[in-house]
Amino acid sequence: MEVHILTIFPEMFLAPFQASMLQRAQERGLLHVHVHNLRTFATDRHHITDDAPYGGGAGMIMKLEPMVRGIQAIQENFGPSHVILLSPQGMVLTQEHAKTLATQERLLLICGRYGGVDARIQAYTHAEVSIGDYVLTGGEIPALVLIDVVGRLLPGVLGDPHSAEEDSLFHGLLQGPQYTRPVAYGGLRVPDTLLSGDHAAIQRWRRRQALWTTLQRRPDLLSTAPLTPQDHAVLHALQHAGASPDGS
Ligand code: ADE
Repeated sequence: MEVHILTIFPEMFLAPFQASMLQRAQERGLLHVHVHNLRTFATDRHHITDDAPYGGGAGMIMKLEPMVRGIQAIQENFGPSHVILLSPQGMVLTQEHAKTLATQERLLLICGRYGGVDARIQAYTHAEVSIGDYVLTGGEIPALVLIDVVGRLLPGVLGDPHSAEEDSLFHGLLQGPQYTRPVAYGGLRVPDTLLSGDHAAIQRWRRRQALWTTLQRRPDLLSTAPLTPQDHAVLHALQHAGASPDGS
Protein backbone atom coordinates (compact mmCIF):
# COMPACT_ATOMS: atom_id res chain seq x y z
CA MET A 1 0.00 0.00 0.00
CA GLU A 2 1.12 3.52 -0.75
CA VAL A 3 0.20 6.28 1.73
CA HIS A 4 0.60 9.99 1.06
CA ILE A 5 0.35 12.55 3.84
CA LEU A 6 -0.30 16.23 3.23
CA THR A 7 0.72 18.27 6.29
CA ILE A 8 2.29 21.53 7.45
CA PHE A 9 4.34 19.52 9.98
CA PRO A 10 6.21 16.83 8.00
CA GLU A 11 8.75 16.48 10.82
CA MET A 12 6.06 14.97 13.05
CA PHE A 13 6.24 11.82 10.92
CA LEU A 14 9.97 11.14 11.20
CA ALA A 15 10.31 9.07 14.39
CA PRO A 16 7.11 6.99 14.15
CA PHE A 17 8.19 5.47 10.84
CA GLN A 18 11.65 4.60 12.18
CA ALA A 19 10.58 1.95 14.65
CA SER A 20 8.52 -1.17 15.11
CA MET A 21 5.86 -2.38 12.67
CA LEU A 22 5.75 0.81 10.57
CA GLN A 23 9.48 0.59 9.89
CA ARG A 24 9.43 -3.16 9.17
CA ALA A 25 6.45 -2.86 6.82
CA GLN A 26 8.33 -0.23 4.82
CA GLU A 27 11.58 -2.19 4.78
CA ARG A 28 9.74 -5.20 3.43
CA GLY A 29 8.14 -3.08 0.70
CA LEU A 30 4.61 -3.69 2.00
CA LEU A 31 4.02 -0.04 2.91
CA HIS A 32 5.35 3.05 1.16
CA VAL A 33 4.84 6.33 2.98
CA HIS A 34 5.38 9.72 1.33
CA VAL A 35 5.12 12.87 3.44
CA HIS A 36 4.35 16.09 1.53
CA ASN A 37 4.76 19.59 2.96
CA LEU A 38 1.53 21.50 2.35
CA ARG A 39 3.42 24.80 2.39
CA THR A 40 5.20 23.90 -0.85
CA PHE A 41 1.78 24.06 -2.56
CA ALA A 42 1.06 27.61 -1.32
CA THR A 43 2.08 29.91 -4.16
CA ASP A 44 2.21 33.22 -2.27
CA ARG A 45 5.51 34.65 -1.09
CA HIS A 46 5.02 33.61 2.54
CA HIS A 47 3.58 30.16 1.80
CA ILE A 48 0.45 30.91 3.80
CA THR A 49 -1.87 27.96 4.37
CA ASP A 50 -4.52 29.50 6.64
CA ASP A 51 -6.78 32.54 6.81
CA ALA A 52 -9.51 34.13 8.97
CA PRO A 53 -13.00 32.58 8.83
CA TYR A 54 -15.74 34.25 6.79
CA GLY A 55 -18.46 35.48 9.15
CA GLY A 56 -15.93 36.08 11.91
CA GLY A 57 -15.00 33.96 14.89
CA ALA A 58 -11.92 32.72 16.67
CA GLY A 59 -9.22 30.58 15.09
CA MET A 60 -7.86 30.30 11.61
CA ILE A 61 -9.19 28.16 8.78
CA MET A 62 -6.94 26.17 6.47
CA LYS A 63 -7.12 27.49 2.93
CA LEU A 64 -8.51 25.45 0.08
CA GLU A 65 -6.10 26.26 -2.77
CA PRO A 66 -2.84 24.81 -1.34
CA MET A 67 -4.67 21.63 -0.33
CA VAL A 68 -6.32 21.15 -3.71
CA ARG A 69 -3.05 21.90 -5.48
CA GLY A 70 -1.34 19.35 -3.26
CA ILE A 71 -3.99 16.66 -3.87
CA GLN A 72 -3.82 17.23 -7.62
CA ALA A 73 -0.01 17.22 -7.75
CA ILE A 74 0.23 14.00 -5.73
CA GLN A 75 -2.40 12.29 -7.87
CA GLU A 76 -0.73 13.43 -11.09
CA ASN A 77 2.65 12.10 -9.95
CA PHE A 78 1.59 8.88 -8.25
CA GLY A 79 -1.89 8.01 -9.56
CA PRO A 80 -5.44 8.10 -8.20
CA SER A 81 -5.92 7.73 -4.46
CA HIS A 82 -8.58 7.41 -1.79
CA VAL A 83 -8.53 10.87 -0.20
CA ILE A 84 -9.27 11.21 3.52
CA LEU A 85 -9.46 14.37 5.60
CA LEU A 86 -8.63 13.78 9.27
CA SER A 87 -10.94 15.90 11.38
CA PRO A 88 -12.93 15.69 14.61
CA GLN A 89 -16.09 16.08 12.48
CA GLY A 90 -15.42 12.84 10.59
CA MET A 91 -16.92 9.38 11.00
CA VAL A 92 -15.16 7.69 13.92
CA LEU A 93 -12.60 5.14 12.72
CA THR A 94 -13.52 1.55 13.56
CA GLN A 95 -11.75 -1.77 13.00
CA GLU A 96 -14.37 -2.58 10.32
CA HIS A 97 -13.62 0.66 8.46
CA ALA A 98 -9.89 -0.03 8.80
CA LYS A 99 -10.39 -3.43 7.14
CA THR A 100 -11.94 -1.78 4.07
CA LEU A 101 -9.24 0.90 3.97
CA ALA A 102 -6.61 -1.87 4.01
CA THR A 103 -7.88 -2.97 0.58
CA GLN A 104 -7.08 0.41 -1.00
CA GLU A 105 -3.98 0.63 -3.15
CA ARG A 106 -3.20 4.27 -2.39
CA LEU A 107 -4.39 6.55 0.43
CA LEU A 108 -3.94 10.30 0.62
CA LEU A 109 -4.35 11.66 4.15
CA ILE A 110 -4.93 15.37 4.66
CA CYS A 111 -4.03 16.72 8.08
CA GLY A 112 -6.16 19.66 9.17
CA ARG A 113 -5.01 22.19 11.78
CA TYR A 114 -6.19 25.29 13.60
CA GLY A 115 -9.93 25.94 13.68
CA GLY A 116 -10.73 23.66 10.75
CA VAL A 117 -10.48 23.38 6.99
CA ASP A 118 -12.47 25.27 4.33
CA ALA A 119 -15.57 23.08 3.91
CA ARG A 120 -15.25 23.06 0.11
CA ILE A 121 -12.46 20.50 0.57
CA GLN A 122 -15.30 17.95 0.65
CA ALA A 123 -15.53 18.23 -3.13
CA TYR A 124 -11.99 16.76 -3.31
CA THR A 125 -12.13 14.08 -0.62
CA HIS A 126 -13.79 10.66 -0.35
CA ALA A 127 -14.14 10.56 3.42
CA GLU A 128 -13.70 12.55 6.60
CA VAL A 129 -12.36 10.45 9.48
CA SER A 130 -12.05 11.11 13.20
CA ILE A 131 -10.09 8.86 15.56
CA GLY A 132 -12.41 9.52 18.50
CA ASP A 133 -14.65 11.97 20.27
CA TYR A 134 -11.93 14.32 21.47
CA VAL A 135 -10.09 17.19 19.82
CA LEU A 136 -6.38 17.05 18.99
CA THR A 137 -4.39 20.05 17.83
CA GLY A 138 -4.25 18.68 14.32
CA GLY A 139 -4.70 15.71 12.03
CA GLU A 140 -1.06 14.53 12.15
CA ILE A 141 -1.38 12.17 15.13
CA PRO A 142 -4.76 10.89 13.84
CA ALA A 143 -3.09 10.19 10.47
CA LEU A 144 -0.41 8.16 12.27
CA VAL A 145 -3.09 6.28 14.18
CA LEU A 146 -4.91 5.47 10.95
CA ILE A 147 -1.70 4.27 9.24
CA ASP A 148 -0.84 2.08 12.23
CA VAL A 149 -4.33 0.56 12.41
CA VAL A 150 -4.50 -0.07 8.65
CA GLY A 151 -0.81 -0.98 8.19
CA ARG A 152 -0.91 -3.93 10.56
CA LEU A 153 -3.83 -5.40 8.59
CA LEU A 154 -1.86 -5.52 5.32
CA PRO A 155 -0.99 -9.08 4.30
CA GLY A 156 2.50 -10.04 5.47
CA VAL A 157 3.01 -7.11 7.86
CA LEU A 158 2.46 -9.11 11.05
CA GLY A 159 4.70 -12.16 11.27
CA ASP A 160 1.89 -14.52 12.27
CA PRO A 161 -0.95 -14.41 9.70
CA HIS A 162 -3.49 -15.04 12.45
CA SER A 163 -2.40 -12.42 14.93
CA ALA A 164 -4.54 -9.59 13.49
CA GLU A 165 -7.51 -11.94 13.58
CA GLU A 166 -7.05 -12.48 17.30
CA ASP A 167 -7.08 -8.78 18.03
CA SER A 168 -9.48 -7.11 20.32
CA LEU A 169 -12.34 -6.00 18.10
CA PHE A 170 -11.41 -8.09 15.08
CA HIS A 171 -14.53 -10.18 15.54
CA GLY A 172 -16.48 -7.40 17.16
CA LEU A 173 -15.63 -8.38 20.75
CA LEU A 174 -12.95 -7.21 23.15
CA GLN A 175 -10.13 -9.66 23.79
CA GLY A 176 -10.10 -11.44 27.13
CA PRO A 177 -7.08 -11.59 29.48
CA GLN A 178 -3.74 -13.01 28.29
CA TYR A 179 -0.88 -14.42 30.41
CA THR A 180 2.75 -15.41 30.07
CA ARG A 181 5.35 -16.93 32.42
CA PRO A 182 5.64 -17.31 35.38
CA VAL A 183 2.61 -19.44 36.31
CA ALA A 184 2.42 -17.81 39.76
CA TYR A 185 3.52 -14.32 40.78
CA GLY A 186 2.89 -12.87 44.22
CA GLY A 187 -0.04 -15.22 44.74
CA LEU A 188 -1.58 -14.40 41.33
CA ARG A 189 -1.98 -17.56 39.25
CA VAL A 190 -2.54 -18.18 35.56
CA PRO A 191 -5.98 -19.81 35.10
CA ASP A 192 -5.72 -23.63 35.09
CA THR A 193 -7.53 -24.04 31.75
CA LEU A 194 -4.70 -22.23 29.92
CA LEU A 195 -2.18 -24.73 31.35
CA SER A 196 -4.30 -27.79 30.56
CA GLY A 197 -3.14 -28.36 26.97
CA ASP A 198 -6.79 -29.02 26.04
CA HIS A 199 -7.13 -26.78 22.97
CA ALA A 200 -10.90 -27.02 22.68
CA ALA A 201 -11.30 -26.10 26.35
CA ILE A 202 -8.86 -23.19 25.90
CA GLN A 203 -10.84 -21.90 22.90
CA ARG A 204 -14.10 -22.10 24.87
CA TRP A 205 -12.48 -20.35 27.85
CA ARG A 206 -11.11 -17.55 25.65
CA ARG A 207 -14.47 -17.01 23.96
CA ARG A 208 -16.19 -16.87 27.34
CA GLN A 209 -13.63 -14.35 28.64
CA ALA A 210 -14.03 -12.20 25.52
CA LEU A 211 -17.81 -12.19 26.03
CA TRP A 212 -17.39 -11.36 29.72
CA THR A 213 -14.90 -8.51 29.11
CA THR A 214 -17.15 -7.04 26.41
CA LEU A 215 -20.22 -7.35 28.62
CA GLN A 216 -18.44 -5.56 31.46
CA ARG A 217 -16.68 -2.80 29.52
CA ARG A 218 -18.36 -2.26 26.14
CA PRO A 219 -21.85 -3.81 26.20
CA ASP A 220 -22.74 -1.58 23.21
CA LEU A 221 -20.52 -3.82 21.02
CA LEU A 222 -22.67 -6.88 21.69
CA SER A 223 -25.52 -5.62 19.52
CA THR A 224 -23.34 -5.68 16.37
CA ALA A 225 -20.84 -8.49 17.15
CA PRO A 226 -21.44 -11.71 15.18
CA LEU A 227 -22.57 -14.05 17.99
CA THR A 228 -23.36 -17.76 17.81
CA PRO A 229 -26.31 -19.38 19.65
CA GLN A 230 -23.67 -20.76 22.07
CA ASP A 231 -22.40 -17.19 22.68
CA HIS A 232 -25.94 -16.05 23.46
CA ALA A 233 -26.35 -18.92 25.93
CA VAL A 234 -23.06 -18.00 27.65
CA LEU A 235 -24.06 -14.32 27.80
CA HIS A 236 -27.44 -15.22 29.19
CA ALA A 237 -25.83 -17.32 31.93
CA LEU A 238 -23.30 -14.56 32.71
CA GLN A 239 -26.02 -11.92 32.92
CA HIS A 240 -28.90 -13.75 34.55
CA ALA A 241 -27.71 -16.87 36.30
CA GLY A 242 -24.78 -15.29 38.12
CA ALA A 243 -22.35 -17.65 36.35
CA SER A 244 -18.68 -16.75 36.79
CA PRO A 245 -16.54 -15.83 33.76
CA ASP A 246 -14.12 -18.63 34.71
CA GLY A 247 -16.66 -21.21 33.68
CA SER A 248 -18.25 -22.24 36.95
N1 ADE B 1 -8.10 16.60 14.38
C1 ADE B 1 -8.36 17.08 15.61
N2 ADE B 1 -9.00 16.17 16.36
C2 ADE B 1 -9.15 15.06 15.58
C3 ADE B 1 -9.74 13.78 15.79
N3 ADE B 1 -10.31 13.44 16.93
N4 ADE B 1 -9.70 12.90 14.77
C4 ADE B 1 -9.14 13.24 13.59
N5 ADE B 1 -8.58 14.43 13.34
C5 ADE B 1 -8.57 15.34 14.32
